[in-house]
Formats: sequence, structure tokens, C-alpha cells
Amino acid sequence: MKVIIPVAGVGTRLRPHTLTQPKVLLNVAGHPMIYYIVDELIKKKIADSIIFITGYKAEDIEKYLNKTFKYKFDYVEQKEMLGLGHAVLCAKEKFDPIKNEDALIILGDTLFDVDLKDIVKSKYSAIGVKKVDDPKRFGVVETNKKGFITRFVEKPASPDVSPSNEAIVGIYLIKNSTLLFNSIEHIIKNKITTKGEYQITDAMEVMIHQNEKFVTYQVDGWLDCGKHETMLETNQYLLNKKKNKYSFKGSKINYPVFIGKDVTLENCIIGPNATINDGCFIKNSIIENSIVDVNSHIENSIIKDSLIGKHSKVIQKQNVLSLGEHSEV
Ligand code: UTP
Repeated sequence: MKVIIPVAGVGTRLRPHTLTQPKVLLNVAGHPMIYYIVDELIKKKIADSIIFITGYKAEDIEKYLNKTFKYKFDYVEQKEMLGLGHAVLCAKEKFDPIKNEDALIILGDTLFDVDLKDIVKSKYSAIGVKKVDDPKRFGVVETNKKGFITRFVEKPASPDVSPSNEAIVGIYLIKNSTLLFNSIEHIIKNKITTKGEYQITDAMEVMIHQNEKFVTYQVDGWLDCGKHETMLETNQYLLNKKKNKYSFKGSKINYPVFIGKDVTLENCIIGPNATINDGCFIKNSIIENSIVDVNSHIENSIIKDSLIGKHSKVIQKQNVLSLGEHSEV
């Protein structure tokens, strides 16, 4: 199975953090978000090859992956950020059109608590979905009584015109990669865009008209990391699974938390749902539902629902903060 992971995006919704780091390297519960996806793929031996579509801060991503995993990754550059469909098409050169190989596409900023082995067993192309209250923010699917997808709609204009509330969550098993690449080329040639981008959803709609059969795969554990609030929700979810235990004299730990190496805590209350990464120094402070990245210094502060970038300094604050690295408040 060839796995395609698009990670080229600039991550505007996570600024200022993504001004200095690519989104997929932002830390959640002690690891960069991309770690969890790759670790699972390698551990479960799902992939024969893992192809990253890189663009924004590509070098940082390659350096991290090559240093962290003993695995020979493939990298293809997306030269212009023209949308997810366009990103996936960049992987075409790694596929053999005669063999018409299967492709598993996983978005680099989305974690899944699912058994990938189960999805890849599917006889048909399978699209990960989850019921949502607000379908207009997502690509959605319409299915028939037999369970086959009859229509894909990218970001329906309103819930009233949405064919369902089953949102596409960012995991796609494609049984006919040649048809997928041809369909993306078709939408590009005909300038079929949604919100100005070439979308994979629009290409899959073309595939349905070419008689490709798609089924849905229910994904309950969908952990989006695309924006501040969802990153914190994902942090909480992962911390709850890890069940770490720590002992820091003079400080109280309210689990779940992650505390990295060489962390100093003096008279603090940490957690619940706090990630404190390596080398942080925290004194007389309360940190709750937040991610504090490496080598940050916090004193006399109450920090909740915050993302604090690397090497930051926070003195005497009681705010929700979103601080890029090397900031000082
Ligand atoms: P998003 O739609 O979240 O875009 O992409 P983004 O740039 O990462 O973030 P925002 O919307 O500006 O905040 C979902 C996934 O698809 C990749 C992204 O890197 C991310 O992993 N992607 C998106 C590409 O590789 N290329 C694209 O042209 C668009």
C-alpha cells in the first residue's frame, strides 16, 4: 500500500505558531502531530512506501522525519499551494499507472484513533466520515441504501443544501489511483475549484461519474489539529490515553498531563490537560488545558487554554495566550 500524506500547507489558522514552524511539527501531548500518524503506519506495517507532499518549510519536515524514524520516506514538492487535490496529484510520479495501485491518503494535520488495518481491507474505495453539526465547514457525502456514496459535495453553502451531515475527515482509501489522478487532472484542466482550490472531493465526484464505487468508513476518533481549539482538544484526548505519572516535590499535578525532560517546577499546579515540553522552567504558576513548548519560562502566571511557543517567556499573566516562539510577555 502506498500512503500519501500532504503536508505542504502554510497553516494560516494556526498563526503565529506556523510562522516559524510547519503545522505538522507543532507539538501535541509531547510529540509533533505528524509523529503519531507515521508511528502508527510503521508499527502496523501498513505502508510499502510513505510519500510526503511537501511545500511550506519542507526542509524542517524532512529533517525531523529522517532523524526520528528509521524509514526511507519519499518526498515530492508541491510547488504551488493550489489545494488538496493538486497536492495529491503531485504523488502521481511515484505510482505505476499500469499496476493501478491502491493509495491511502491521510491528511498530515489530522490524527485518527482508528484501526488503519481495518480500512485498508475494504474491497471498495473507502472514505473516512463522521457526523457533524455544521457540515458547511467540510466536504460531505451522500449515500444510498446499499451504503455506496452517490455524491460528494465540498463545503455545502448551508446545512439546508448539504446532502447529509457526514463530513469527510481526511482519510481516504482509493482502490483506483490511476482514475484518481486522471480525475484530478480533469478538474484542473476544466478549472473546477471550490473556494479557489482544486479539491480532492471534486475529483472523487468525477470518479463516481466514471463508475468508481465508494463506501464510507465511520471514524469516531477524529482528532483535528488544524486550529487552536482543536489542537487543545486533541492534546486532551491523547493525554487521556497516555496515563503518564510524575512526581515533582512542592508542585501539584492534576492528571492527565505530559511533562518532558529537564523540566523544573517550583510551587505550581499543572493540569489537567497540560503538556509541558523539555527544558521548561515554571514557577508559582497554574497551567491548565495548554501546550507549552520547549525551553519556555513561566513565572507568577495563570495560563489556561493556551498555546505557548518554544523559548517563550511569560511573567505575571492571567490570560488565554497564543504565543509564537521566542515571544516575551
Ligand atoms: P488545510 O486545508 O488545513 O490547509 O490542509 P493548511 O494550509 O494546512 O491550513 P490553513 O487552512 O491555512 O490553516 C489540510 C492538509 O492538506 C495539506 C496541508 O498541509 C494539511 O496537512 N495541503 C493543503 C497541502 O499539502 N497542499 C495544499 O495545497 C493544501
